Amino acid sequence: MTELSQTALLLELEPVVAKNLDRHLSMAKEWFPHEYVPWSEGRTFDGPLGGDAWSEADSTLSDVARTALIVNLLTEDNLPSYHHQIATLFGPDGAWGTWVGRWTAEEGRHGTAIRDYLTVTRAVDPVALERARMVHMTAGYSNSHDESMLRSLAYVSFQELATRISHRNTGRATGDPTCEALLARVAADENLHMVFYRNLLAAALELAPNQAMRAVAEVLLDFQMPGVGIEGFGRKSVAIALAGIYDLRQHRDEVVAPVLRQWDVFNVAGLDADGEAARDQIAAHLDDLERAASRFEEKRDARAARLAARA
Ligand SMILES: [Fe+2]
Ligand SMILES: [Fe+2]
Repeated sequence: MTELSQTALLLELEPVVAKNLDRHLSMAKEWFPHEYVPWSEGRTFDGPLGGDAWSEADSTLSDVARTALIVNLLTEDNLPSYHHQIATLFGPDGAWGTWVGRWTAEEGRHGTAIRDYLTVTRAVDPVALERARMVHMTAGYSNSHDESMLRSLAYVSFQELATRISHRNTGRATGDPTCEALLARVAADENLHMVFYRNLLAAALELAPNQAMRAVAEVLLDFQMPGVGIEGFGRKSVAIALAGIYDLRQHRDEVVAPVLRQWDVFNVAGLDADGEAARDQIAAHLDDLERAASRFEEKRDARAARLAARA
């Protein structure tokens, strides 16, 4: 079977993009970041305006809630890198171009809203946050899928859902109903993004099943969260996993498995040997994730029991 070029894929998928853009615009509800921020709680900071410096005691949020909020915000902050990547792959024209603009505009309000909330409520050290943002954005974001439209579509299908779950559970972990409402609103945006990309990749699985299956396998096998480049990400992601905000169990059961089920990957017809091999890799990966998730849960339970015994 001859492979479709990237240009051919873009042209073939254009009507699917147009249809799903219409769907997205009909489903997306307008919302306003400023309405989710408790402005009257704010106080002027030190510096040119001579207010009060931030101190640890300014906020009662737990350490892990703060960590998760910082990771989520820095992840959103790298939007220029993500925009560059999809604008390069999808191009400025037609429905593809409209989607790139619309998606970027929606993502843009996530960082704005979360930063406003964190600053007004003094939830995190604003100086450390700004320094981390400078480092993170200077490094930028790229992944191994930069060159391939299909791999990028597969990656964002999983990543948007992962981000949705991470935002939602971070909101819950704060114990602050205001923050929870804000992050639930952001998570609703991420869910619609996931549906858009998932529908496109579903169409690609019909159009070019072997190429699409290969793309899904490659993306799953080296999947990493978009915030992976954040300083101290390893340590932070362990804390986030231990708190049940985003862990391997959720990654497998709430992100990877449901998306694969929607694509019905195990019933896709017309695969050649390479497509079958890719599908086998996906199946093996699901089994690996199952084992790793169970191991992690056992360790987390044992740790919780140890901490309880000590207390
Ligand atoms: Fe976002
Ligand atoms: Fe998103």
